[in-house]
Amino acid sequence: MKVVSTRAELAAARRELPGRVAVVMTMGALHDGHVELIKRARAEADSVVVTIFLNPLQFAAGEDLDRYPRRLDVDVPLCEGAGADVVFTPLPSEVYPSEPVVRVSAGAIGDVFEGASRPGHFDGVVTVVLKLLHLTAPDVAYFGQKDAQQLACIRRMVRDLDVPVEIVAVPTVRDADGLALSSRNEYLTPEQRAHALVLSRALATRDVATGRAMVDAEPGVELDYFERVDSDTFNTTPDGDLLVVAARVGTTRLIDNLLLEEAAV
Ligand code: PAJ
Repeated sequence: MKVVSTRAELAAARRELPGRVAVVMTMGALHDGHVELIKRARAEADSVVVTIFLNPLQFAAGEDLDRYPRRLDVDVPLCEGAGADVVFTPLPSEVYPSEPVVRVSAGAIGDVFEGASRPGHFDGVVTVVLKLLHLTAPDVAYFGQKDAQQLACIRRMVRDLDVPVEIVAVPTVRDADGLALSSRNEYLTPEQRAHALVLSRALATRDVATGRAMVDAEPGVELDYFERVDSDTFNTTPDGDLLVVAARVGTTRLIDNLLLEEAAV
């Protein structure tokens, strides 16, 4: 496995990769959810590139960019173990050699739910995803269902901007007790983590009113939203195919979602 950190090294490594090339993009602090994405890519493509880049553009002032866990020494061996061929670990100055004046707008999908709480977040996501797609030039890119709204923004960006890549969604990887794996779970105390389990339990009821009441009743958990939406547009609709939830547990914002298979068209 090659570890590269400059555009030039990445381009050289990319030229050597045979066959159908997959990319898995991450911000590091890797867990079994990320590893699952890399393993799926390994199983389905001929070559696998993993990017580890903590993208400042998708964090607003006052968010957790400064305390987000950074541990390349652990992450790189995890990538190798999961079957990556190339890991790209650029510094911000490599990805943004100058202030990004031109940015991609995620549009209406990026304004609601997570986007309403985090203005500009999805513009920062789709901008870096498009840049990393250009830099890694994959045939296929793997993203987690865990971040359903991010997935919808990326799918729409690829469609609207004619980006020549296939997008594959990977089901959410959870701990045995149901908590969706997230790098941000590390911020939780054991007690907060126990309270956070209400999110997956509330989704499992498959009902907005019941789920909302459960989260509302949970001590230490402050509900932001619990809605039924269309998974492509993120419009709220009673016959939507996706339940989405977000809540604050202490200072940590957690999100989760459940695809309602029988409602899918
Ligand atoms: P990050 O939060 O590191 O997530 C990287 C990828 O792992 C995303 O596609 C995310 O949806 C997926 N993922 C995270 N937790 C998961 C879980 N429990 N099960 C399955 N997949 C999971 O998402 C980002 O980074 C960034 O926004 C990025 C796309 C890299 C752009 O900066």
